[in-house]
Amino acid sequence: MFQLKQLEGVGKADAYLALEIQLQALLHGECDFIANSANTAALLWHALPDLNWAGVYRCVDGQLVLGPFQGKPAGVRIQLGKGVCGTAAATRKTVLVPDVREFSGHIACDAASQSEIVVPLVKHGELLGVLDLDSPKLNRFDADDQAGLEKVAAILMASLE
Ligand code: SME
Repeated sequence: MFQLKQLEGVGKADAYLALEIQLQALLHGECDFIANSANTAALLWHALPDLNWAGVYRCVDGQLVLGPFQGKPAGVRIQLGKGVCGTAAATRKTVLVPDVREFSGHIACDAASQSEIVVPLVKHGELLGVLDLDSPKLNRFDADDQAGLEKVAAILMASLE
């Protein structure tokens, strides 16, 4: 049985390091994108504080389509270039939004969301989707979160080999 290790009481960079090791163990031996996205979302949801949504949108026929997640029900389809998710997908760059009210075109799935980070999921040059985390706190995500979550995305992509 998988045992979730709590990450409290350590620095953020160390917490992400521990999270990455757990994720690698969790995904080991499985290469299904949906299954591994589901376990990644669940691990992030339980390991990281102050989240109200954590999950994946998949790129299907040039659109983002809702994938496995934790949190409240969310919009199903997002066009590339729209919202925070579509912007990260179109630019293939992480988008960190300290205050969603300041992001023109932000798509509100949960009125409680105040800040957000979206990391593109790219494997061998192909956009497979995005990893999206929302928080009910302003300025929840910083450069340490970006570095840690980009590593999480890389581990998820590597698991699909
Ligand atoms: N806020 C996102 C939409 C997805 S929800 O946060 C789950 C966006 O602006 O793309």
